[in-house]
Amino acid sequence: MEYRFDVAHPRTDMEAAKWDEMGEQAPGIVPLSVADMELLSPPEIIEELTKTAEFGMYGYTWWGSRYGNIVKQWMKERHDWEIEPEWIVQTNGVVQGLYAAVRAYTEPEDKVLLITPVYYPFYRAVTRNGRTVTESPLKLVDGRYEIDFEDFEEKAKEAKMFILCSPHNPVGRVWTEEELRKIGDICLRNHVLVISDEIHFDLIMPGHHHTVYATLGQKYADNCVVCTAASKTFSLAALGVANIIIPNKELRDKFDAQVNVDGCYSYSIFGNRALETGYTKCAGWVDQLNQHIYDNYLYFKDFMAKNFPDVWVADLQGTYLCWFDCRCFGMPGEELAKYLREEGKLFFDDGYIFGEAGDGYERINLACTRKVLEEALERFKKIFENK
Ligand SMILES: Cc1ncc(COP(=O)(O)O)c(C=O)c1O
Repeated sequence: MEYRFDVAHPRTDMEAAKWDEMGEQAPGIVPLSVADMELLSPPEIIEELTKTAEFGMYGYTWWGSRYGNIVKQWMKERHDWEIEPEWIVQTNGVVQGLYAAVRAYTEPEDKVLLITPVYYPFYRAVTRNGRTVTESPLKLVDGRYEIDFEDFEEKAKEAKMFILCSPHNPVGRVWTEEELRKIGDICLRNHVLVISDEIHFDLIMPGHHHTVYATLGQKYADNCVVCTAASKTFSLAALGVANIIIPNKELRDKFDAQVNVDGCYSYSIFGNRALETGYTKCAGWVDQLNQHIYDNYLYFKDFMAKNFPDVWVADLQGTYLCWFDCRCFGMPGEELAKYLREEGKLFFDDGYIFGEAGDGYERINLACTRKVLEEALERFKKIFENK
């Protein structure tokens, strides 16, 4: 079946976080910031949720063997990862899981390692729980972001936990198996627990292969917590479901106990139905979506090469979030952000929110229709062509 990726509705009156952030200042404008899609979810999911809504009874929901086996099947077929349903701990979101993991496995003031720039809630999960962030900045080598393994090991010596973003938001890297193994060996050598946030793992661009951290081998699997969800894959962020998958029983029990202490044991009937439908009926939709995102990426990259050759665009290997360098316009990050918003009605995520190293960069969300992207780039051209 051929799916359409040219349909989306304005979300002006939906209390959509991304849209409301624009305020009153941008009628008719589609924001390309926060990581949800300006595209419809798969028709199979819409149909299932309509049926669920029409059923008319929305009592407490749990998940059982059907759900567990569906997740197991998806991990096997899409990620070559053999899991057992009992390894799953469901939470209402990956970020909730990250906060719980920080509390479960570290003590106040312990150091948690991040490679930066990185998805900003990682910092908050650490600092808002009274722990300390230790950063190992990514380095750009021949136009590709890489981990500085020497620095990473130095920082790992004093850390208790490492939160990995795989694929990496915001720089779009899909870590190779070799890189993951290096990370894993350093973490094992230094007794650092790996929390691997793989929420974007289904959004992989042509020519790249995502390796689930826990598939590296038993010793790596025993030292990790893998955070997964269907929310990025099918744009279900508001439905509140994530699967935190923990092969090691001792680690799993600790996490489970923490989630209970946190009082989280409420599950969404809509989230569960949507995930089950996505994982059983929508693999083809994901393949076509990835192609659509990649086509948008090529269009974006080509636009910059033709119109603004000094704007460096990172290679998009995974996620639908493309990182690009606007420092050639000579504006500090906050000034650039203001200019984009006020003059261009352009709503991206500003690089500095991902850490100091992101200042002067922007992150554009390419999960939108081509028309929306074209219009945004026209506005970009208008405000920068004489700069
Ligand atoms: C790396 C990463 N983790 C987690 C999330 C959010 O997860 P959730 O909505 O399940 O809390 C995002 C959303 O952008 C993300 O990019």
